[in-house]
Amino acid sequence: MRTLKIAAIFLLTLPKPDFVLAQPGENRIIASPELSDHIISKHIYGHFSEHLGRCIYGGFFVDENSTIPNTRRIRTDIVEALKKINIPNLRWPGGCFADEYHWHDGIGLRSERPKMINTHWGGVIEDNSFGTHEFLDLCELLGTEPYICGNVGSGSVEEMSKWVEYLNFDGVSPMADLRKQNGHEKSWNVKFWGVGNENWGCGGNMTADFYADQYKRYATYARNYGDNRLMKIAGGANSGDYNWTETLMKKVPLSMMWGISLHYYTIPKTWASKGSATNFDEREYFSALKSCLRMEELVSKHSTVMDRYDPEKRVALAVDEWGIWTDVEPGTNPGFLFQQNSLRDAIIAASTLNIFNNHSDRVRMANLAQTINVLQALILTDKEKMLLTPTYHVYDLYKVHQDATLIPLTIHCREYTLGDEKLSALNASASRDEAGNINISIVNIDPNQAMDLTLDFPDIQSRTLSAQIITAEKFTDHNTFDRPSTVKPVPFGGVKKSKESLTMKLPAKSIVVIKLAK
Ligand code: AHR
Repeated sequence: MRTLKIAAIFLLTLPKPDFVLAQPGENRIIASPELSDHIISKHIYGHFSEHLGRCIYGGFFVDENSTIPNTRRIRTDIVEALKKINIPNLRWPGGCFADEYHWHDGIGLRSERPKMINTHWGGVIEDNSFGTHEFLDLCELLGTEPYICGNVGSGSVEEMSKWVEYLNFDGVSPMADLRKQNGHEKSWNVKFWGVGNENWGCGGNMTADFYADQYKRYATYARNYGDNRLMKIAGGANSGDYNWTETLMKKVPLSMMWGISLHYYTIPKTWASKGSATNFDEREYFSALKSCLRMEELVSKHSTVMDRYDPEKRVALAVDEWGIWTDVEPGTNPGFLFQQNSLRDAIIAASTLNIFNNHSDRVRMANLAQTINVLQALILTDKEKMLLTPTYHVYDLYKVHQDATLIPLTIHCREYTLGDEKLSALNASASRDEAGNINISIVNIDPNQAMDLTLDFPDIQSRTLSAQIITAEKFTDHNTFDRPSTVKPVPFGGVKKSKESLTMKLPAKSIVVIKLAK
């Protein structure tokens, strides 16, 4: 029996007499709706699109004379799929690419745009045909907030400052005039603004101290125009580099940052040999889940550092790159990071999103890497063919948590053990939406054993119950162009409701999202 860390925190504050504590060996979740006090930002459900492999070209953006249905070269089936999951924001143009990208090369007549080498990602030629106007057109079609990452590593303060002016200034100025000449009269009023990416690595190999000073210079000249307040996000730490976060919090005035980013990837084996996306055994499944669940420790510890300087939690933690990173599919360009996506990845997505929901007092943005054909993708394409991955379906089920009020949970559960290693078998989060409906997402990561679970929830008698499940025969199961529906949500009838509780048998390796409609 193991009690999750969040349980320990909430047990201290719970109104004790009302609570039935779990018996040894019992799997129990106790919901405390009376302790709800903040919203799960929809921006936790954000995505990321880099000029990398076939994410933009061969993904979102089709060739000029393509017969694939599109609007101004932006692929219709992809737009429809992402609109269905209410994509709240999209990060662009990188990643490492962002610190080599010069926005000026991606505006004006396409035939006159200079070409460049994409040195990070396969050394391919980038023709700049997808630039600022195309990205904002994509965001408008998706109905999503753009999140643009500026170039600190190889750019200049002036270059970034002019990009903001080009995007957001509505009066008469050199950059606003240039935008108008290029066919866009009105400013776009972009809000989310990244000041560099991974500046400890591909974004300039800087020290935390040096970057903090650079941040202040770049952020100063990224101006607010009109009513538009930029939400500036400082390039944050790599995984457990708490000193990076501490240095930024210490050196940069809180009023200069909307957020600090954090990048962390789930690696099933080692960085040198990450493991296959679809051909792995239970040992590798276990180690991937262990790596994924480390996110709990990372967001807790980075938040603790931030709390010391910002107890009111004004600055957000933006986990703007996360997801599972495996070896590329055999025979594909190693620089393109193309990987398949299995039930295991859906379990990783669902568990990570539960962690973010439960830490949504500080984690107010997150971006899965990356939307199409790269790393933990939602969508895979092969010319005109397109499929939705198991991870996509998690976002579809979890969209109910966007901008809903978090309901704290106390979780008692058994462990999933392999050899002498152990992980909590269960994770969950819950929220109440604006209409008063309650949604609870629960993951049983144990690939071998179903779990009998009781969920105590006060006053649910009059609510209407429904549930959906994502699972499959094997944790390696995935969707292919020939069999696109191997892993997808289906209705789940295994939940029983009584006055103050739900009982269920959660199948092994499953994700269940329960709705208690008002
Ligand atoms: O998502 C792929 C790469 O991973 C990004 O470009 C970079 O920021 C990170 O290292």
